[in-house]
Amino acid sequence: MPAQSFDAIDIIRTKRSGGALSGNEIRWLVDAYTRGDVAEEQMSAWAMAVFFQGMNRSETRDLTLAMLNSGTRLSFDHLEVPTVDKHSTGGVGDKITLPLMPLVASFGVAVPQLAGRGLGHTGGTLDKLESFPGWRASLTNAEMFAQLRDVGGVICAAGEELAPADKKLYALRDATGTVEAIPLIASSIMSKKIAEGTRALVLDVKFGSGAFLPEIERGRELARTMVALGEDAGVRTTALLTDMSAPLGMTVGNANEVRESVEVLSGGGPEDVVDLTVTLAREMLALAGRADVDVAAALADGRAMDVWRRALRAQGADPDAALPTPNETTVIRAERDGVLSRLDAWSVGVAAWRLGAGRARRQDPIDHAAGIELHAKPGDRVRAGQPLMTLGADEDTRFGRAVEALEHAWTIEDESPCARPLVAERIVAY
Ligand code: URA
Repeated sequence: MPAQSFDAIDIIRTKRSGGALSGNEIRWLVDAYTRGDVAEEQMSAWAMAVFFQGMNRSETRDLTLAMLNSGTRLSFDHLEVPTVDKHSTGGVGDKITLPLMPLVASFGVAVPQLAGRGLGHTGGTLDKLESFPGWRASLTNAEMFAQLRDVGGVICAAGEELAPADKKLYALRDATGTVEAIPLIASSIMSKKIAEGTRALVLDVKFGSGAFLPEIERGRELARTMVALGEDAGVRTTALLTDMSAPLGMTVGNANEVRESVEVLSGGGPEDVVDLTVTLAREMLALAGRADVDVAAALADGRAMDVWRRALRAQGADPDAALPTPNETTVIRAERDGVLSRLDAWSVGVAAWRLGAGRARRQDPIDHAAGIELHAKPGDRVRAGQPLMTLGADEDTRFGRAVEALEHAWTIEDESPCARPLVAERIVAY
């Protein structure tokens, strides 16, 4: 606990007028807020001041460390193998963690993936895996260590004891319109990732309509800030800036995204999902000192699939279990011949959410069967009347609002625009 005491109102005023806060002020504020000695309205005013005035590099680092130190920090040093993790800032159809964890783990590099749940239009890895009946997201530390030792990789829920100050502050930001502030996002993500104890980290920072920060410039700034925070904390960190203007792969939902991930692990699957999985795996393996391996071969020959099946069994699921399918479906068709030149990720994410695949509040249940199957992606030639997507839900009353979200979601033109690369930039420490 910081010995020195400050006044919350002075700290708010300093930030409101664009001043920089000292490390002691930031540590005191985070600690007092976590204890309940700084009121919610004071912390919201401070978060809004940060939203407008920003933070410099040392303030952002002090905030990250203060949130990190509000809880426990895991260590995997006793495993005697390198550890590496990946974090995505979230998107639509982003199921990459599912094939990526077993792929990287199949090379003898431990992958501790402490994942989250979906909120709003973006999906969550734990929700997707809970499509398997009996799959357990919550593991004790002992179970997690045992699985890392025996299977090589684990995807599970982050415990309550990791960066509790961030959990409280994130809930407040969610309710006060202060989520989209780069120092707050960067410190929130990195305090949890550093607490998780990985030695290396690859960040998949999204830009485009389906991303938290749609403008590429803001995505770049977020990526640079997080890479610097990771390196300052002794975690080797690299970031890729990837395009989230269209959904990833051909499925958006939960059970349908798991099915698509299994296709990738079987050596098939959509090209964009395979490419991003392999690219991120190469980055992770390079950070773990295994730049020499043939990554794609482990998808083709079943080594990654073997890790996937063992990881599911270790967490109570049957990898051969039938996954849920929706009771009702409806098809949306192309209105003309041409090339699908745009398919808006944000609109597709909102539609899937309205079908029941996502939640509006953290405590809401989700429908694992609900979601969207895409039949065409940007760049594909389509004919009038051809199915563009199939919507699935538990009851057909859900379709009206989902279709509304899709009203302006795509464009069909005569000519195909130039394809944009999925990975726009690679950002390393400088
Ligand atoms: N994810 C987080 O964990 N924190 C943020 O602030 C935004 C996204």
